[in-house]
Amino acid sequence: MAGRAMMLVNVGTVIMTTLTLASLVRGFGVNWGNIASHPLNPDIVVRMLKDNKINKVKLFDAHSWTMNTLAGTGMEVMVGIPNNLLESLAEDYENAKDWVKENVTAYMRKGGVNIKYVAVGNEPFLSAYNGSFLETTFPALKNIHKALKEAGHTDKMKATIPQNAEVYQSANDKPSEGDFRSDVKKTMLDIVNFFHDNDLPFTVNIYPFLSLYLNEHFPVEFAFFDGKGESIPDKGKNYDNVFDANYDTLVYSLKKAGIKDMKIIIGEIGWPTDGHKHATPKLAEKFYAGLMKRLAEEEGTPLRPERLEVYLFGFLDEDMKSIMPGPFERHWGIFRYDGTPKFMLDFTGKGRKIVPVAAKGVKYLDKQWCIVNKDTINLDKVAPDLEYACYHGDCTAMKGDSRCSKLDRIQNISYAFNMYYQIQGQDVRACDFKGTARITKDNATVGSCLFPIQIVSGSDDFRISFVFGRFFVVGLVLLGLIATI
Ligand SMILES: *[C@@H]1O[C@H](CO)[C@@H](O)[C@H](O)[C@H]1NC(C)=O
Ligand SMILES: *[C@@H]1O[C@H](CO)[C@@H](O)[C@H](O)[C@H]1NC(C)=O
Ligand SMILES: *[C@@H]1O[C@H](CO)[C@@H](O)[C@H](O)[C@H]1NC(C)=O
Ligand SMILES: *[C@@H]1O[C@H](CO)[C@@H](O)[C@H](O)[C@H]1NC(C)=O
Repeated sequence: MAGRAMMLVNVGTVIMTTLTLASLVRGFGVNWGNIASHPLNPDIVVRMLKDNKINKVKLFDAHSWTMNTLAGTGMEVMVGIPNNLLESLAEDYENAKDWVKENVTAYMRKGGVNIKYVAVGNEPFLSAYNGSFLETTFPALKNIHKALKEAGHTDKMKATIPQNAEVYQSANDKPSEGDFRSDVKKTMLDIVNFFHDNDLPFTVNIYPFLSLYLNEHFPVEFAFFDGKGESIPDKGKNYDNVFDANYDTLVYSLKKAGIKDMKIIIGEIGWPTDGHKHATPKLAEKFYAGLMKRLAEEEGTPLRPERLEVYLFGFLDEDMKSIMPGPFERHWGIFRYDGTPKFMLDFTGKGRKIVPVAAKGVKYLDKQWCIVNKDTINLDKVAPDLEYACYHGDCTAMKGDSRCSKLDRIQNISYAFNMYYQIQGQDVRACDFKGTARITKDNATVGSCLFPIQIVSGSDDFRISFVFGRFFVVGLVLLGLIATI
């Protein structure tokens, strides 16, 4: 009897599993970035992707450890070229050939990496870059496309450029009045014509959260997919959410350039969980639930009623990202830095209240925290140390309306000291602050404000590029100082 019951259960499980697989949302992937002090090892991340049945991933570089881990998995990969390589790729075709040889051809062996796209640059026309990449992006794209073609890869993969949605805009918020931003228009037209001639897709990052962040008066419901916002009529279509309106603004902008059917990929879309009053796990859950449902329905947008292709941003939190755009920048992950999920998300789009599968086999540093030494602290003199700890650590979860924004003064300082200490890999010298800090084995977490323990990160190469990146930033700051003197 027991055996029979077991068998029935098994059959049930098999049917369930088959149904689940069949109804998985098609066409979505995730962004996997690594601007972190302690990146999770690629093998752990790839296991997480598989456990969550995610089979498309977008990278920001072509780090060999990541690529080798993806080899043989069949996972569809968009591999990235960082902006700082654009100039050399634009200047000399040989450099583009070398890039393709080392970062694409090397993985095209049997059991290699299933590369579908090569992303040339990342949001290179952001206005914050002051046009730094305006001259180099298109020539770099042409050289990479040519090198891919010469190496015989263009039947398997396509080059593209992930753009921020600010490269186009519209008067009166009407999609039908969309067009490319005037300062980038000429270059954008060159690019989209080249895309058109070579059958390459347009990639754009769309962030409803930023609409809310940048405009106090933005109607909150319009950022989500529940259709509860007031709808905007436009040329026979109705827009009840900013994503549709934004996407169709691009469709109209392309139409104005004479291009009707260019494939569009959403390179990034997501919602952060800390660092701003609208950046909360609750709203992130609401956003993703609506998005996954939309993707599962495969109905696209009013102007393009077809299946959308999107990459969620992002898979993991990155604690070393620049916070120039805002403190929320380090909290875009569906998972925390250590691969633990932050909110419910059903990747099948059925809206079940389920939690994504966490990382397995993560090793943590020792269970110890750095906190204020109440006997020696002088609150009048702590400001420079606090600033130092926040600058080199990460205090962004204390900003906005976050889990850690309601700490008292002493807890605030302890939080900053601990983040610095953890990011420095629990180096004892990082928990001193002229004798005002001490190490404790007692969990320093305050209520819902988690005082984290960092993880063991086996990725020495990542550490090197991180340290290099830091020196680069310090160098820039120094140059800035010299310039002001
Ligand atoms: C290949 O990609 C890596 C990682 O992005 C980069 O550091 C390297 O310079 C690239 N190789 C070439 C030959 O450009
Ligand atoms: C862009 O220009 C602004 C204002 O001139 C300046 O503050 C900023 O540092 C510049 N950014 C870059 C990346 O050059
Ligand atoms: C704690 O730090 C946050 C972020 O820097 C700040 O906004 C808040 O006022 C501080 N709280 C206290 C009680 O000092
Ligand atoms: C510290 O306490 C918090 C809240 O109870 C808990 O979530 C966290 O896992 C604890 N940390 C460690 C390292 O035990």
